[in-house]
Amino acid sequence: MMEKEEAKRHGRRLVLVVYPSQGHINPMLQLATILYSKGFSIIILHPEFNSPNHSNHPDFSFVSIPGGLSNVSASPGDIVATISAINRSCEAPFQRYLEQILEVEDPHDRVAGVIYDGFMHFAQRVANHLKLPGISMCTTAAASLLAFAVSRHPDGHGYIPYQDSLSQLDQEPELEALKLEDIIKSAAGNPTSLEQRAIIKESTKNASAIIVNTIHFLEQKKLTKVQEYFGNPIFPIGPFHKLAPSSSSSLLEEDTNCISWLDKQALESVIYVSFGSMTSMDENELLEIASGLASSELPFLWVVRPGLVTGSEWVEELLPESFWKRVEAEGRGCIVKWAPQKEVLAHGAVGGFWSHCGWNSILESVCEGVPMLCRPIFGDQPLNVRYVCDVWKIGLEIEGVLERGKIEKGIRRLMIDSEGLEIRQRAKGLKEKANFCLSEDGSSYNALNELVQHILSS
Ligand code: UDX
Repeated sequence: MMEKEEAKRHGRRLVLVVYPSQGHINPMLQLATILYSKGFSIIILHPEFNSPNHSNHPDFSFVSIPGGLSNVSASPGDIVATISAINRSCEAPFQRYLEQILEVEDPHDRVAGVIYDGFMHFAQRVANHLKLPGISMCTTAAASLLAFAVSRHPDGHGYIPYQDSLSQLDQEPELEALKLEDIIKSAAGNPTSLEQRAIIKESTKNASAIIVNTIHFLEQKKLTKVQEYFGNPIFPIGPFHKLAPSSSSSLLEEDTNCISWLDKQALESVIYVSFGSMTSMDENELLEIASGLASSELPFLWVVRPGLVTGSEWVEELLPESFWKRVEAEGRGCIVKWAPQKEVLAHGAVGGFWSHCGWNSILESVCEGVPMLCRPIFGDQPLNVRYVCDVWKIGLEIEGVLERGKIEKGIRRLMIDSEGLEIRQRAKGLKEKANFCLSEDGSSYNALNELVQHILSS
């Protein structure tokens, strides 16, 4: 039975190359699960540090790329250094590995292609060298790819778009309010250095296709622009997590006690607070958030990841006794180190999501119809917020210095005020549309089938 199953996968071997941070590991392993379900066999290559848990994915083969990177930090401040270090040290071992498997390759079981996280651009160079099709996978919005096309003006002042047509597009009366200006701002604030951006841009142009974890209707016009600019087919097959619901790739242990706590809360009453896997804040910001949550008088589930406050493992010693007393007395708060986020967002008690607006978090919220409170920190997040607040209008932003009064007001505006009610209705509408795209003949369903054909015919 098993042999029969494997025989079906002959000639459909795919090598997937993961960038080692949570927001990148999740979508890549979800994509692997999706492609496995379409009959491909999967080899996952990953650097040694932040290794995904192999035992969670018994159907895949895992190969760890050695490279002495175990001490490299994946924190936002070091992201450029991390990306270049990984690309430097992984290229040669990756090439050696592929050469080895190609040497003993059964002609009927060829490697059909290399799919790599856009940050792992060395994989495209190796694929070119070995004459294998390389496919770039984008873990962010398609619009973020346009930021790679915006370059700094040679005189050092300002930025030039890749074509004037991009600015013309922004003058067109269209539903999307995402402006050139936002893309430029995101490019300017993006920690990926200009040099790395240029390399990523080149590898993406050389790819035989781009897979994006997005939904066509969410960014229709931007997808057209990305295709025009990069010149290769683009497959918006997202949201990956809905196509691979059982895929779990958490690096931290999920605290499932929060689900029993949610079970006791009223419908749509809880604000869920999480700032993803990489952001950090200072102690003062943490205290302001705690005070804002306490004075909002609404139930909250708050993820305080170890290291969220630099140098601190856990919040117990950081938050004042008065906070714990108040929250415990009212039974109104639950604080965990890491939550099963997709399950949390799908829980009926959750009525709002205060997020840093990482792209995975946004897609997960959109798919459950949960309105958002937005606090972008770095990278693609400021651009993502423009989608949430100005284009789809399913959230509100907390801007400027974090301060308890502002937080309390933001939470109550989203969760209780009539303004929040309208936002919630729109979020629910978006959920319906997202579900439709996944169903037979929906845009993601069709794009996935086209992707499979593309891989098989390359
Ligand atoms: C990073 C960038 O910040 C983000 O903007 C980019 O799009 C991807 O890489 P991260 O900051 O971790 O990712 O945010 P996000 O994209 O939201 O990914 C976080 C992932 O961790 C989500 O899939 C979320 O479900 C998961 N998560 C988060 C948990 O499972 N539990 C938690 O408690 C918090």
